[in-house]
Amino acid sequence: MKISRVVVVGSGTMGSGIAQVVAQSGYQVKMEDINDSLLSQAQQRIEKSLDKLVEKKKISAKEKEDTLSRIKPSTSLDVVKDADLIIEAVPEKPDLKAGIFEQVDKLAPSHAILASNTSSLPITAIAAVTKRPEQVVGMHFMNPVPVMKGVELIRGRVTSQETIDLAVEFVRSINKIPGVAQDYAGFISSRIFNAYLNEAAYTVMNGNTPKDVDDIMVNSINVPMGPCAAMDLVGIDTIVYILEILEDEFGPRFKAAPLLKQMMRAGHLGRKSGRGFYEY
Ligand SMILES: NC(=O)c1ccc[n+]([C@@H]2O[C@H](COP(=O)([O-])OP(=O)(O)OC[C@H]3O[C@@H](n4cnc5c(N)ncnc54)[C@H](O)[C@@H]3O)[C@@H](O)[C@H]2O)c1
Repeated sequence: MKISRVVVVGSGTMGSGIAQVVAQSGYQVKMEDINDSLLSQAQQRIEKSLDKLVEKKKISAKEKEDTLSRIKPSTSLDVVKDADLIIEAVPEKPDLKAGIFEQVDKLAPSHAILASNTSSLPITAIAAVTKRPEQVVGMHFMNPVPVMKGVELIRGRVTSQETIDLAVEFVRSINKIPGVAQDYAGFISSRIFNAYLNEAAYTVMNGNTPKDVDDIMVNSINVPMGPCAAMDLVGIDTIVYILEILEDEFGPRFKAAPLLKQMMRAGHLGRKSGRGFYEY
């Protein structure tokens, strides 16, 4: 099987970035969301991101136009009817994702691979709502998608080797670096990263300032961005949701730091709300 037609379900932060990088590599992409206004916002984000690449002379103006022309927006899931690969990037809510996978499974051709961009939910559970669990795989892109090189592929308990091989080949074809992880909540990247972020929140709770925590981690451990700045970027609520899924799978060692829950109750969610560990 050769993947040539790709559908991205959900055109938010991640979905629009995924549609962009896939189209940049020459694939025809259909981008689906619940209304036209969200789709036009996604198209604007993609155009802005491509403009930056043109400014930096990483792509030509023609490549930008060609990429945009390969992305077709839609508000109907019917677009999956002739797709080879469907990448789901809707919010991290298990019931919502299950509903989408059930519908996509009914509509998509029998050869199509169904991928989820979930950051933490076990793929085996998502696959179980379909009649083709061996063709379901985790395809975890990182934020911001056009910049980050790695894509974590998650092998569900019944994902076939053929599906993994096709996913690896596809990720390489869009100039990203695949890595395969086993299917336990949070996989490799989210599990290790969120444990680290949670511990950083405890250091702030213990009386350190976010700036001191970040400066020490940047200058002494050589991380490119301090953990408090990283938490503000990802969103405090998102981190709490992921920690809850990890706690459910692995127990109390993943219990969210009380400070994170307090910040969430106050609406201090990070960059998106104007205040988190820092003010914006
Ligand atoms: N934001 C990150 O840093 C990040 C990183 C890696 C993975 N992820 C994962 O990617 C997924 C998407 O996250 P995001 O940050 O892009 O979220 P987002 O909220 O920015 O975008 C989600 C999009 O899905 C759309 N949507 C909701 N219900 C839908 C439906 N029924 N059909 C079609 N579209 C629907 C929304 O309208 C929205 O445009 C989540 O599973 C998240 O855990 C996020």
